[in-house]
Amino acid sequence: MQVAAILLLLALALVTPSSSAERKCVLTGFWINDLGSNMTINSVNKAGEFSGMYHTAVTATSRKIRISPLQGSQHRENNSNQPTFGFTVNWSYSGSTTVFVGQCFVDEDGREILKTMWLLREQVGSLGDDWKATRVGVNVFVRRAPRRE
Ligand SMILES: *[C@@H]1O[C@H](CO)[C@@H](O)[C@H](O)[C@H]1NC(C)=O
Ligand SMILES: *[C@@H]1O[C@H](CO)[C@@H](O)[C@H](O)[C@H]1NC(C)=O
Ligand SMILES: *[C@@H]1O[C@H](CO)[C@@H](O)[C@H](O)[C@H]1NC(C)=O
Repeated sequence: MQVAAILLLLALALVTPSSSAERKCVLTGFWINDLGSNMTINSVNKAGEFSGMYHTAVTATSRKIRISPLQGSQHRENNSNQPTFGFTVNWSYSGSTTVFVGQCFVDEDGREILKTMWLLREQVGSLGDDWKATRVGVNVFVRRAPRRE
């Protein structure tokens, strides 16, 4: 009787999902943000470096949006389950560059969420236009299974 009770407790312990704090937030995968933009992040290497593709839903230019490459790095030294990261998007269809910084969190329901801030540097024609060349914003990304385009 006692053995059965112990086995039952053990089985319950095994099926109980680990708390969000224990779950590791992983950057690799397909993400969509609050603007409807999406990105695919490839595998993160041992040094914390990664690459991917960014498909923006919005643009500051009048040019046709094209999927653009991104390159970044994730903090690895601290071995945190909720790492910080940064990446640069090299816009394929304009002279602009965007840098994102953020942290990968696991929320109370165990879902991963990327809280980011970005700076967008637009290429302007002259030094005199430098003052208006940088925009700043916030984006929140959640993981999604990729949809066929
Ligand atoms: C990614 O976002 C772009 C821009 O909003 C959209 O056109 C495209 O369908 C999205 N791709 C996927 C796989 O959801
Ligand atoms: C590692 O990250 C935790 C927060 O997750 C922080 O409290 C701690 O100071 C960090 N340790 C180092 C060595 O940066
Ligand atoms: C940046 O974008 C340009 C134009 O699309 C491309 O030729 C170049 O290879 C890209 N660089 C990186 C590092 O992705």
